[in-house]
Amino acid sequence: MNILLTGGLGFIGSHAATVLAEQGHQIILVDNLCNSQIEVLSHLGQIIGKQPIFYEADVRNTNLLNSIFQKHSIDLVIHFAGLKSVAESVTNPLKYYDNNVGGSISLLEAMQGAKVNKLIFSSSATVYGVPQYLPYDESHPTVPMNTYGKTKLQVEEILRDLSHADPDWSIVCLRYFNPVGAHESGLIGEHPRGMPNNLMPYVCQVASGKLPHLNIFGDDYETKDGTGERDYIHVMDLAEGHVAALNFVNQHPGFHAINLGTGVSYSVYDLIGAFEQAANSTIVRKVQPRRSGDLAIYYAKADKAKNLLGWQAKRDLQVMCKSGWNFHKQKS
Ligand code: NAD
Ligand code: WQD
Repeated sequence: MNILLTGGLGFIGSHAATVLAEQGHQIILVDNLCNSQIEVLSHLGQIIGKQPIFYEADVRNTNLLNSIFQKHSIDLVIHFAGLKSVAESVTNPLKYYDNNVGGSISLLEAMQGAKVNKLIFSSSATVYGVPQYLPYDESHPTVPMNTYGKTKLQVEEILRDLSHADPDWSIVCLRYFNPVGAHESGLIGEHPRGMPNNLMPYVCQVASGKLPHLNIFGDDYETKDGTGERDYIHVMDLAEGHVAALNFVNQHPGFHAINLGTGVSYSVYDLIGAFEQAANSTIVRKVQPRRSGDLAIYYAKADKAKNLLGWQAKRDLQVMCKSGWNFHKQKS
C-alpha cells in the first residue's frame, strides 16, 4: 500500500515507518520539523535500505497536501503530526487547537478531496482524565484534564462525526499510553528539543551527565511505592500496533477507538531500577513535590487491541530501558 505518514520524522512516526517499510509498504512522510530533525530521514534510510519519500510540509497547508495526494496514489493515512507538551498546551491553547485540531481538519479535507477514506489517528490515554476505574477500557468516560488532551478528544469527535456522515470512512483512533525506548539499531529514538518533560528522556540525560539529577515528582501517592505508576510501552511494540491497525482498517469501515498499552503499570522507582541495570549506572534523584496535573496511576485494558487487531505488546521494561539508553548514548 501507499501510506502517508504525517509527523513521520517524529518519535513514533519514524519507528512506525521502519516497520511499515519492512512489510513492503511504500511510505510517504510529511513533517514540518517543528519537533524533529532532518537527520532522522537519513537514519531511516539506513534502517530501511532506501531513502523514504519526504515532504517538508505543514499539515495545515491544505493546498500542499492536495498536491501530495495528487502526486501519489495514497491508500491510507496515519496521522501522527501534532504537538504533545501538556504544559505548553495549557499556557498556549490556541497554538494547540490550531495545530492539532486545525491540522487534522486540513488533512481530512485533503483526504476527502482525494477520495482517501482510511485513517489511523494518534490519540492518547490522556483523553480519559481522572480514572473512575482502572484499567481504563475504551468505554471509560473521556474528560481530559488539559488542553492537549482536549485537542485529541476533539479530533476523535470530528472523526466520529465524519464516519457517521459517510459510512465509507474507516477510522481507527489509537490511544497510546506511555511510549518509551527506541529502535534496536540506536539510529532513531526520542529526541526532545530543550529540557525533556517526560520521565525516560530525563533519566537518559541524568545518566549521561547532561542533567545533575532526576526530580521525582511526588513519593506520597497511593501507589505501591508512593511514586506515579504508568503503562510504559516500547515504541517498537507501538509501531507494530500500527501494522495490525492497518490490516484492521482495510477490512472494517466505521469509527473505532483502541488502547495501545501493555496492561501493566510500573512506578517511577521501577523504571529507575530497570534503567540503572540496563545502563549500569546510578541515577541521582531528588524527591520533589507532586507535579501539577499528574495522576497517581493509570494503565490500559489492552484486550480490545488483542481481540480486534490480534496485537499485544511483547517487550518488557528492561528492553525499553536498554534500547532507550542505547539510542541516547549513540546520539550524545
Ligand atoms: P513527536 O513530536 O516526536 O512527533 C510529532 C511530529 O509531528 C514531529 O516530527 C513534528 O515535527 C511533526 N508535526 C507537528 N505538527 C505538525 C504540523 N502541523 N505539520 C507537520 N508536521 C507536524 O511526537 P510523538 O511522540 O512521535 O507523537 C506522535 C503523535 O502521537 C502525536 O500526535 C502525539 O500527540 C501522539 N501521542 C504521543 C504520545 C507520547 O507520549 N509520545 C502519547 C500519546 C499520543
Ligand atoms: C511519568 C511519571 C511523573 C518526569 C505524558 C502526557 C501524556 C502522554 C505521555 C501524550 C509521572 C513522573 C516524570 C520527571 C518524574 N503524552 N516523572 N520526574 O505525565 O504520564 O504522560 O506523556 O499523549 O499525555 O501527560 O508521562 O513521562 O511525564 O511521567 O517523577 O522528570 O514520571 O510524575 O508519574 P505522563 P511522564
